[in-house]
Amino acid sequence: MRLTRGLLKRNLVLSALGIIMFRFSSAYFQKSTIPAIANYFGTKGRYEEVNPYLIDDILSVNKSLSKPPSPDCRAIHLTAIIRHGTRYPTTKNIKRMKRFYSLIVNESKGTYAWLRDIKNNWEMWYTEDMDGKLVEKGRDDHRHLAMRLATSFPTLISVDNFQGNRIKFITSSKHRCVDSVEAFQEGLQRRWHIQDTRYSQEINDSLMRFFDKCKKFIENVDNNKTALLEVDLFKSSDEMKNVQRRIAERLQISLSDITPDMVEAAFFLCSYEFAIKTVNSPWCNMFEKTDAQVLEYKNDLKQYWKRGYGHDINRKSSCSLFHDLFRRLDQTAYDYRFGQVAEAVTVQVGHAETLLPLLSLMGFFHDETPLTAANFHAQHGRTFRTSQIVPYAANLVFVLYDCNKGLRLRFLLNEKPMTFPGINQPDPLYRTVRDHYSDLLHGCDFEKECELRKANRRNSEL
Ligand SMILES: *[C@@H]1O[C@H](CO)[C@@H](O)[C@H](O)[C@H]1NC(C)=O
Ligand SMILES: *[C@@H]1O[C@H](CO)[C@@H](O)[C@H](O)[C@H]1NC(C)=O
Ligand SMILES: *[C@@H]1O[C@H](CO)[C@@H](O)[C@H](O)[C@H]1NC(C)=O
Ligand SMILES: *[C@@H]1O[C@H](CO)[C@@H](O)[C@H](O)[C@H]1NC(C)=O
Repeated sequence: MRLTRGLLKRNLVLSALGIIMFRFSSAYFQKSTIPAIANYFGTKGRYEEVNPYLIDDILSVNKSLSKPPSPDCRAIHLTAIIRHGTRYPTTKNIKRMKRFYSLIVNESKGTYAWLRDIKNNWEMWYTEDMDGKLVEKGRDDHRHLAMRLATSFPTLISVDNFQGNRIKFITSSKHRCVDSVEAFQEGLQRRWHIQDTRYSQEINDSLMRFFDKCKKFIENVDNNKTALLEVDLFKSSDEMKNVQRRIAERLQISLSDITPDMVEAAFFLCSYEFAIKTVNSPWCNMFEKTDAQVLEYKNDLKQYWKRGYGHDINRKSSCSLFHDLFRRLDQTAYDYRFGQVAEAVTVQVGHAETLLPLLSLMGFFHDETPLTAANFHAQHGRTFRTSQIVPYAANLVFVLYDCNKGLRLRFLLNEKPMTFPGINQPDPLYRTVRDHYSDLLHGCDFEKECELRKANRRNSEL
């Protein structure tokens, strides 16, 4: 009897210990460095989430994806249009983060462990002068991407072409983009063990920041409060209200203090801590999957109406980049036929705002129904999902091949081959692609599309 009681007691102690150990280990040892909501960060998402095999080996490439269309094909040109790497938040968002952080520190009465963690152990280390600059992880994004692309396309991204100046670099003037290009060049130099050579890049904002040059876009969308009406409506939707209510509850802060902007600031804090430092910060515990999905949709709505299909001028503002791409491909085709290809590779670095309009112009990720404030649930399976399309260092790669039957064009988004919308075959003939886009190739004039109509101009002068 005594023995059994002793055993029982020991078992109880052991199982209590077990529970403690389990709690302890699940909180500390098994805690993933990847937040459960990491797939919902939209344009603030990490590239590795789009290609998870990179988490184990950042230099691995899937060779089967970069094989030529058929053995008789030879790659003759590659154009890569790449978003800058991971960056700091902008000043506007840093201010919001600071405000929300002080509110929590001063007002929150919640008792969760993660909340104590925020209050006692987490420090507000973001400063306003960080304003959107590239971080070290962002340099790595580009160094590693350069190395992977060189592995995937060794005949084009080659040391010979690099040193022979047949790889051209073009960038937006923003420091985060210039720094990204330099990191890309560094990646190539590391891969080939070459040093002490300065490679140049050309700054071209007409190409990489066309949205700043398009008057019609600026007036009709960028400076137009009602152009993003759906985003504002969604901010006051039931879905968003529910997120605010749940956060207020978790923090034990009055609901009236929790604005959609505040909620978003905390969501951004979780995403930045992860993207910049690869940590699963206590900020991430503030959100459940359903909350994250609502915030993801809010960001997608904004991109849809400001950079995507929402307004026709968003897409059309990229006409110059579209023509530039096809002019390059045509030029290579011509060079190849009549002599030597002068520009084997073009690397162009810009912004999510550069990639999204071009993708939309070319018909990618076009959902049948527009994204609106009212159809969050119906849009659950939408293709326009910026978390998947434009994470940091997102890239569009066009590869032109010379094959027995003619030139073929392959398109890869974030290192995965995609079929062109309306051409349902992989690696179509280049002339099929040209035919498919013939309306755009014969029209889509940047000057004309971006010109303000006289009536508009008169109005704005009044
Ligand atoms: C590589 O790509 C092929 C084709 O999409 C796929 O079947 C395969 O699973 C991929 N391999 C890896 C290691 O991801
Ligand atoms: C929170 O408290 C700190 C320190 O007392 C103060 O500087 C800050 O203004 C307060 N913030 C808010 C939002 O009340
Ligand atoms: C930018 O690129 C466009 C299109 O290729 C070209 O016409 C223009 O001259 C370039 N601008 C600069 C400043 O290099
Ligand atoms: C602003 O956007 C709304 C909605 O798209 C549009 O109806 C209106 O004409 C735009 N205003 C200007 C000045 O472009």
